[in-house]
Amino acid sequence: MKVKVKRGRIDQTGDQAITLAHFEDQRKLTGMVKAIDERLSGMISHLLKNKDFVGRLNQTAIIYPQSKPPNPRIILVGLGKSAEFDWNGQRGACLEKLRQAFASACRRAKELRIKSFSTMVFPADLKGMDLAKVSQAMAEGILLSNYQMDQYKTTKEEESLESFTIVEEDREKIEAIEKGAALGEVFAEATNFARGLANQPSNILTPARLSLEAKKLAKEDNLRCEILSLPQIKRLKMNSFLAVASGSKEPPKLIILEYRPDERLAKKKKYDTLVLVGKGITFDAGGLSLKTTEEMLEMKGDMTGGAVVMSTIAGSAKLKLPLNLIGIIPAAENLPSGSALKIGDIITSYSGKTIEILNTDAEGRLILADALSYAKVFKPDAILDIATLTSAIKIALGTVCAGVFGNHEKLKSKMIQAGQKTGERVWELPLWDDYQEFIKSDLADIKNVGGKPGAAIIAARFLQNFVGNYPWVHVDIAGVDFSEKERPYIPKGAIGFGARLLLQFLRDWDGV
Ligand code: BES
Ligand code: ZN
Ligand code: ZN
Repeated sequence: MKVKVKRGRIDQTGDQAITLAHFEDQRKLTGMVKAIDERLSGMISHLLKNKDFVGRLNQTAIIYPQSKPPNPRIILVGLGKSAEFDWNGQRGACLEKLRQAFASACRRAKELRIKSFSTMVFPADLKGMDLAKVSQAMAEGILLSNYQMDQYKTTKEEESLESFTIVEEDREKIEAIEKGAALGEVFAEATNFARGLANQPSNILTPARLSLEAKKLAKEDNLRCEILSLPQIKRLKMNSFLAVASGSKEPPKLIILEYRPDERLAKKKKYDTLVLVGKGITFDAGGLSLKTTEEMLEMKGDMTGGAVVMSTIAGSAKLKLPLNLIGIIPAAENLPSGSALKIGDIITSYSGKTIEILNTDAEGRLILADALSYAKVFKPDAILDIATLTSAIKIALGTVCAGVFGNHEKLKSKMIQAGQKTGERVWELPLWDDYQEFIKSDLADIKNVGGKPGAAIIAARFLQNFVGNYPWVHVDIAGVDFSEKERPYIPKGAIGFGARLLLQFLRDWDGV
């Protein structure tokens, strides 16, 4: 589905439904909503008076006008209390409410099998807020809630929604709305792409298949894509990565996806270079440190970080961001077998550091160790990684936000800001030297686990050993990659968390 922007009046669209938003504490109807209400002999005010619909955030109600115009249906949606809609103090939270409210309206439209619906920009009084940002949030809410995974159903529900239009009378506002909606489209598409991959079962989405998906993406978006296969990975001596892959018949792939700004359009001689590393475990059984069935249920999504890196790079190309970006995705399966990595094994990683493996289920950090060391080959200005790394992060922060760690204050604070803007929030945890103690090995340079207390931090601290002094930020998304329930713009299953976060982070980039 595309988001369209049209000049005109909401009561003249001819769409099957229009959406009108309402604040819970709004006493009087104003503007176009008031005009429509009057034309409908007060149907909207009557509904509000009845209190069946009060405008709570995400609440919806349908009105069926007896006479057209305006449209056969009006979907009313609540924005919550206007007093809590504080553009000055909490812009990010306001945008999140808009995303959710329009997602809720979209869900209602889908339930009704409506093909086309339109809306105006809400709230009408932006109080100085950027019109493009508001339009972007609306578009994101609609497109994210429209995601559907029915690839493997032999009888499919017909796709109902075909068009969503933002209508605006004022010619001068159209450009900003179009800009915002287009941005929202890129952000939402990147998220939906990552969802699509993370929802794939591991018998379909093997490391080889993931690498083909990267190739396909590269073709569409004019990116460079190089896939390193087993012999090349062996030649590079990425033994930490290879150790994880050794339990599976599926050979590992190292996916390298590069975006460079078009030289013909180059505004600068030199662009900053960032490496984005994403964990690409297509299935994590735990290896010989075998997980339980229950624990494995989500493990087809253990490549979410990799999918997010792929879609972020593709999205950055669509936005023509002024940055050199290199995505590195080590892709492998973590399975137990006769050839699998064993407890107590010691391997020499790509960096030369030796690692004692005391738990084969802590495989994410092993593949990332080699990928992060390899990132330095590109002499980047910064290194980012995103991974479903530890269940401990879910214990620490729940399913509300991701964890952020790093060795660079500005990078961390930029990531936190990007989280507030996109609603994909991150919370910082420390990485003090004290944590290094826990991963001291008796036999090797380092060991891959350090006990349960602070396990998410210890995992991050382990990674830090392989980035050295490069400015680096790590996002642990293990608590936010899968949703057990439907939320306004989040489906059950893969959330695709991180694509919008990273795109925002990169758009805001202004050096280290
Ligand atoms: N892929 C898991 C982390 C995970 C858990 C992701 C739950 C999504 C949901 C990771 O490889 C893992 O198994 N980590 C272990 C590490 C432990 C053995 C130190 C964990 O967190 O339990
Ligand atoms: Zn694991
Ligand atoms: Zn894992």
